[in-house]
Amino acid sequence: MSDDCINKILLLGDSTVGKTCFLLRYCDKRFQEAHLSTIGLDYRLKSMTLKNGKNIKLQIWDTAGQDRFRAITKNYYKGANGIILIYDVTNLQSYENVKNWISQIKEEANPNVLIYLAGNKIDVGEEERVVKTEEGQKIADELNLPFYETSAKNGVNVNEIFEDILEKIDEVYSKIEVSKTEGKNK
Ligand code: GTP
Ligand code: MG
Repeated sequence: MSDDCINKILLLGDSTVGKTCFLLRYCDKRFQEAHLSTIGLDYRLKSMTLKNGKNIKLQIWDTAGQDRFRAITKNYYKGANGIILIYDVTNLQSYENVKNWISQIKEEANPNVLIYLAGNKIDVGEEERVVKTEEGQKIADELNLPFYETSAKNGVNVNEIFEDILEKIDEVYSKIEVSKTEGKNK
């Protein structure tokens, strides 16, 4: 992928799973207790350096989870190289909806898009957690998605999932560019 290429990452998942907090943790290293529902969508720009020394630009789209915004947000799936699909380990419905999100992604997104699954809010106590790690892993295996459990509150695995997906995007999309060039040379 050329240096001036912008990587687009979309954060998806039900309302209140913590998408906005995920973005704030990654970009500003802070946490917000209040839930201020995202209206439509919002984005942030960031630069980072990959392990191979390549500098990349990153555009992270924070989408609204509420159904009433779906008609707007789904227009943005097409341009994404990566999607972090988030559920909340304290909210069973958000976990059960993972398959619906995947169907919507398959309909709307680029077929090469890389999808990662995150079970967020693992900082909560055992009594509040309703989705076990093994259940998250099971659905991830079924859908063939890399899986992380995360906490936007204390930062667990937030940087890691972004780093992982960006390395992978670089690998996959560089290959796609190479094969396009080879095609042109024929
Ligand atoms: P929409 O914009 O409506 O789609 O919601 P969202 O997914 O952006 O949720 P948001 O980030 O606003 O977080 C919802 C609530 O969950 C807020 O009260 C956050 O403080 C809380 N929250 C987010 N992440 C975490 C987390 O990792 N741990 C805990 N304990 N709470 C979290
Ligand atoms: Mg939000």
